[in-house]
Amino acid sequence: MSIKKEFVFTTNDKKSIKIYKDDVISFLQKLPTDSVDVIVTDPAYSGMNNKLKLGAGRIVGTYKDKGKDSSRWFSEFEDTQENYILFLTECKRVLKKDTGHIYIMFDSYSLLSLGAIVRDYFDVKNLITWDKVNLGMGHYFRRRHEYIVFATNGNTRKIKHRSFPDVWRFKRIHNAKYPTQKPVEVFQAMIHASSEENFTICDPFLGSGSSAIASIKNNCNFIGCDVSDKSLEISSKRIEDYIKTNKDILQPKSSSVEEKVFWE
Ligand SMILES: C[S@@+](CC[C@H](N)C(=O)[O-])C[C@H]1O[C@@H](n2cnc3c(N)ncnc32)[C@H](O)[C@@H]1O
Repeated sequence: MSIKKEFVFTTNDKKSIKIYKDDVISFLQKLPTDSVDVIVTDPAYSGMNNKLKLGAGRIVGTYKDKGKDSSRWFSEFEDTQENYILFLTECKRVLKKDTGHIYIMFDSYSLLSLGAIVRDYFDVKNLITWDKVNLGMGHYFRRRHEYIVFATNGNTRKIKHRSFPDVWRFKRIHNAKYPTQKPVEVFQAMIHASSEENFTICDPFLGSGSSAIASIKNNCNFIGCDVSDKSLEISSKRIEDYIKTNKDILQPKSSSVEEKVFWE
């Protein structure tokens, strides 16, 4: 049985949370120009896996093949420069001019190959380090961090406070139900710094829905998509449950190692 392509929820505070099964580019192309206040996203970086031969990429086409032969259309974002440019072009179009903020997550490899392109589209303000506290994999030095590029679409809007650090310590999620699940606090930090109540947050690489839960916690509207059935299945259940019970079934405990998160 295939999963529904669209889920719409209303939170107890009357915010709308909409998630779609769609490809990142086709989804962004459907959104109106100047309609999103903040983009927070953690793209699929398949290129790194291919280069390092860490996993089997599922790439079977490129964006320019779209529509020509559907059997060649890929189900995973191919992070070539060409596709990344398409992605950033659409992000820039949907993000509000002068006030829009964008946060894009990068591992070390994708930061070196694609990170610099962000400057052609946005004003890059910070390179934030997410310290995952515990060691991960690695053939040489073992990986313990990821990067987040923070940029603005024009120059007029600041973040909420000047006291926030650019190193964030949140424990990685172990035994996650969705393989690339990130701590909700990572997205909460972005959204807290950059949003006001009623803002619309967008994440076109939704995964387990951590960014949607963070948006609900910050009293914002949310719109997002993912190409995978599994993502929609897991994130829709998670969002529905969170709205009903105020409990996060995929992350019952805070990932913060400090007594208080830095924005409290
Ligand atoms: C790194 S994961 C995001 C994880 C998410 N931040 C979380 O906390 O669970 C990247 C996601 O991008 C999705 N994805 C891959 N190719 C895509 C595409 N072409 N369009 C939209 N989503 C895509 C994958 O299915 C995966 O869920």
